[in-house]
Amino acid sequence: MSQQKPIKKAVFPVAGLGTRFLPATKAIPKELLPIVDRPLIQYAVDEAREAGIEQIIFVTGRGKTAIVEHFDVAFELEATMKERGKDMSVLEPTRATPGDIITVRQQVPLGLGHAIWCARAIVGDEPFAILLPDELMVGEPGCMKQMVEAYNEVGGNLISVLEVPQKEVSSYGVIAPGASVSDTLTEVAGLVEKPPVAEAPSNKIISGRYILQPEVMRTLENQGKGAGGEIQLTDAMAKMIGNQPFHAVTFAGSRYDCGSKTGFVEATLALALQREDMGEEVRAIAERLLAK
Ligand code: G1P
Repeated sequence: MSQQKPIKKAVFPVAGLGTRFLPATKAIPKELLPIVDRPLIQYAVDEAREAGIEQIIFVTGRGKTAIVEHFDVAFELEATMKERGKDMSVLEPTRATPGDIITVRQQVPLGLGHAIWCARAIVGDEPFAILLPDELMVGEPGCMKQMVEAYNEVGGNLISVLEVPQKEVSSYGVIAPGASVSDTLTEVAGLVEKPPVAEAPSNKIISGRYILQPEVMRTLENQGKGAGGEIQLTDAMAKMIGNQPFHAVTFAGSRYDCGSKTGFVEATLALALQREDMGEEVRAIAERLLAK
């Protein structure tokens, strides 16, 4: 049995404007753009639930209410589907236990660190998870479950990391790895947000999954602006190193950067190819297109 306090809450920062996907995201939150037939946010919420998380905390902003609608009961839709004898199981992942979806607003886009801090009253004095829905992590078990398993061993704070080509590191948070604990687990000696390529301590980037102790909220409270003039979560986490255990889990699975258009297309293709109901057909289509 684990001695650690269980992770029951997860924060999903979903206030971003999604400008990279305009005009698609003018009236629709980017988190609702579908990969095949499930919106991005659904993948992240499913991943959290698989890891035993019960409370879903969305940090939203203006124009983002459709995300909450997605996890509500659609009475008319369901009544019509029932009447027509349609399969209702497709809606199953959108159902939430009453009270388990909570939203807070980030009124001004001051950065990821600020977005997380907006959830402080709901997180309270418990360790919690953070999932960035832009990063689509596909694994068995999922990324957050892999992290919770590591957390049960070492406690403290954990981030998921993966290696990228050195020239890409300046788009991410980068770790300075410390002592390695096992093949997939290492201590974190330092963290830096979006370093210039030449100054990056490694090519291991933070891939959008975190398990953090509530003290990070106190650190964020006084966190000044960092890279890009934004209040960075990475900077607040860096201050916790040395005071609390801090580990990085190398994710075993596939990661798709759905914050970029090519990453989004890659995810769509990869997941469609894996689907039993359409994989073969999609493969034939892709081969036909590539042959042209
Ligand atoms: C954020 C984090 C960064 C992390 C990245 C993963 O950056 O600040 O540390 O590596 O997500 O996608 P953003 O993509 O919001 O600029």
